Order: sequence, then C-alpha cells, then structure tokens
Amino acid sequence: MAFRHDIIERNVLLLAVLTLITVSIGGLVQIIPLFAVETTIERVEGVRPYSPLELAGRNVYIREGCYVCHSQQIRSFRDEAERYGHYSLAAESMYDHPFQWGSKRTGPDLARVGGKYSNEWHVTHLMDPRGVVPESIMPPYSFLAGRALKTDDIADHLRTNRAVGVPYTDEMIANALADLRAQANPEADTAGLLARYPKAVAGDLDGDPKHLTEMDALVAYLQMLGTLVKFSDYTLKDLQQ
Ligand code: HEC
Repeated sequence: MAFRHDIIERNVLLLAVLTLITVSIGGLVQIIPLFAVETTIERVEGVRPYSPLELAGRNVYIREGCYVCHSQQIRSFRDEAERYGHYSLAAESMYDHPFQWGSKRTGPDLARVGGKYSNEWHVTHLMDPRGVVPESIMPPYSFLAGRALKTDDIADHLRTNRAVGVPYTDEMIANALADLRAQANPEADTAGLLARYPKAVAGDLDGDPKHLTEMDALVAYLQMLGTLVKFSDYTLKDLQQ
C-alpha cells in the first residue's frame, strides 16, 4: 500500500482529485440525512405563526431598523437569563423570515419584552423615549401613530411566508384582513382570531381605537415577543439540559 501511496504524493493533480473525493464523501454523509428529516428544529408547544397584525408590526420593526440597536436572542448564560428571562429557543424564531437575532445591543434585548410593559407604556416610550427613560438614547418614533397601516396586501404577506415554509392555512389567509382589523379593534369579536393565533394581544393597542396605524401593529408585535412558550410547563431539569 505504502509504495502506491507515493504515486499519489508525487502527483499534485491526482492528490487534489482524490482529496476532493474523500472530503465530498464526508460532506455528503453529513448533508444527505438532513434532507430526510422534516425539520432540524425541535418543535416546542405554543410556537405559532405571527398573527396578521403582528406580522405587519414586524414589517414596521424591520423597516425602521430596530434590529440595529436591539437583539432578539437571549443567550444561555446566567447573567442574560437573570436580566431577560429564559434563554431563547431555536423554535421561537422558526417562523422568522428573516430572523431578528441581531448582533448589536445599543438597547436591551427584546426577545421577551412581550407583557413586560403595558400597551400605553410602549406607545408613550415610542412617541418619546426620554419621556419615560430620561437617559435613553433611543430615537422617537411618534410618526408611526399618524401613519395609517397599509393593510390591502396583508394576505400576500401571509402567502409569501407560506412559500418559505410558515404553516399558514388557507383559512388564515382568507381571514387575514379580518383578523388584522379585529386585533386592533376593542369592540371586535376576537374568537376566530384567538382560535387561529392563541395569546394574540387584542384590543386598544395605541390608545386611539378609531385609527388603524403602524403604531397599533408595532405594539401588537412587541407585546407577543417571547410570550408563546409557557416555560412554567418545563421542570428545572429540562432547563438545565
Ligand atoms: C439608536 C438605537 C436604538 C434604536 C434604533 C431603537 N432603540 Fe429601542 N432602545 C434603545 C435604548 C438605548 C433603549 C434603553 C433605554 C430606553 O428604554 O429607552 C431602548 C429601549 C427599548 C425598549 C424597552 C426595552 C426594555 O426591556 O425596557 C423597547 C420596547 C424598544 N426600545 C423598542 C424599539 C423599537 C420597536 C424600535 C424601532 C422602531 C427601537 N427600539 C429602535 C435604543 C434604540
């Protein structure tokens, strides 16, 4: 065997070709099984696609570049968990296209900001951050309260997400506009909305129920962040794994 090996070692081209073949075998062994499994992300109970209003709010979040200053990924370190709550699970961002993990924290992580403050706090803060946090360097976003939310293309947003793997059903797409309106209207019947999107925060979101604005959508999105998984269902042993 050894005497043949020096033929390979002396022939650069042959060595390169054989190296390539060997490395490809290793690569294929790792990659091919991934096509056979449905998902590499462990499913976690409670995680659901965004409601139409939350999705619209998420689009505002992306458009305004909130991710430039805010991450949405709590790392599995004690200091992070003590400040922000349970570390983020892969499943919690499985329906994010694109994901909002972020790489910069000028402001705090927002992965579990949902339910931390009232709707009113969020509106006041977004209108004028220094009004509630005097030392804040966050820019004001008061114009969002005056901008009517663009709703006519919401079903298309759901369809597009479905095309990249988010399990929106035909029923969800057919009801997209009605669900979007119901979530921001305190007088609406939200039974259908909550059946399709459990835990969606509905009602008077921006303090002005008459107008459906980008502020409504952004608050709906912020208020659901990190609230879908009920961590009290997990035991300490689960969390330590
Ligand atoms: C220039 C950086 C910057 C940008 C851009 C920015 N923020 Fe902030 N944000 C901060 C800072 C700093 C804080 C901490 C002080 C404060 O609460 O205002 C903060 C705090 C927050 C908080 C409170 C978090 C908590 O746990 O107390 C929320 C919610 C928030 N921002 C949402 C947003 C949203 C939504 C956007 C986009 C519309 C945005 N921020 C854009 C810097 C930024």
